[in-house]
Amino acid sequence: MTPDTALVRWLPVADIAEPDWQHLSALLPAEEQARAQRFHFRRDWESYTAAHALLRGTLSLLASASGLSVAPAEWRFSIGDHGKPEPVLPAEAPPFRVNLSHTRGLAAVAVALDREIGVDVEWLDRTNLTIDLADRFFAPAECAQLVGLDAAAEKEALFAFWTLKEAYIKAVGMGLALPLGAFAYTLDPLSIAFDERIQDDPASWYFRRLRPTQGHVLALALRHEAPARATLDAAPADLAALMRLAQ
Ligand SMILES: CC(C)(COP(=O)(O)OP(=O)(O)OC[C@H]1O[C@@H](n2cnc3c(N)ncnc32)[C@H](O)[C@@H]1OP(=O)(O)O)[C@@H](O)C(=O)NCCC(=O)NCCS
Repeated sequence: MTPDTALVRWLPVADIAEPDWQHLSALLPAEEQARAQRFHFRRDWESYTAAHALLRGTLSLLASASGLSVAPAEWRFSIGDHGKPEPVLPAEAPPFRVNLSHTRGLAAVAVALDREIGVDVEWLDRTNLTIDLADRFFAPAECAQLVGLDAAAEKEALFAFWTLKEAYIKAVGMGLALPLGAFAYTLDPLSIAFDERIQDDPASWYFRRLRPTQGHVLALALRHEAPARATLDAAPADLAALMRLAQ
């Protein structure tokens, strides 16, 4: 990857066969395996295990492409003031910055070199993401764009705003400490605007919307001083390569 790349990899849980799970789980350090074991529902164990195996495995594969050998379970993360994990890098490693997202049936990771990056995925059959939430979570300018749409277009816009807003707050690492109404997207063209509560420059952001599976949407936010130069490297994860890391 280059300094301008936003790399995105996703892993659908449905692609993981039963015998694969032990290999993926082996990519996690003992404390994360233990954390995963505490989930009550198998699907939560799967989602967490797939996401963290994807994050750790992707970092190891990228490091290896730079001639550096780091086992997936060896990566350590520091946690920012609002909870954003970033890798603690060995001296010779490229300046990886990462973000992770998981939802029912899908995990995704985004990686950049020395740039803020955020990713969010949502499951389209999620029933609690409805138009009633718009007033609470979206900016007035976003709510206005939902008026008069037919049901399909409304749902598409709703999920787009939701994932894009998450991608931005995750890129800057602030989470819900940032007022969600203080920034507003337009979808076509894809752009952001900030009100006076957020000191940020719309011209320094690169956003993308993707459809990794029929049932999921993904949004990406990358801070880049010249967004036209940013490039997207987006693909399904190489599951076989991830599993080889466990052997
Ligand atoms: C915690 C939050 C950063 C993301 O939550 P989320 O969308 O439910 O979860 P995702 O699966 O996309 O992301 C979780 C991952 O993001 C990372 N993360 C945690 N805090 C983060 C932060 N402050 N910034 C960036 N990434 C963060 C972690 O890797 C976490 O994975 P883990 O819990 O398995 O370690 C925050 O945005 C939140 O609480 N959102 C709740 C939903 C909401 O109200 N959204 C409004 C949208 S309009």
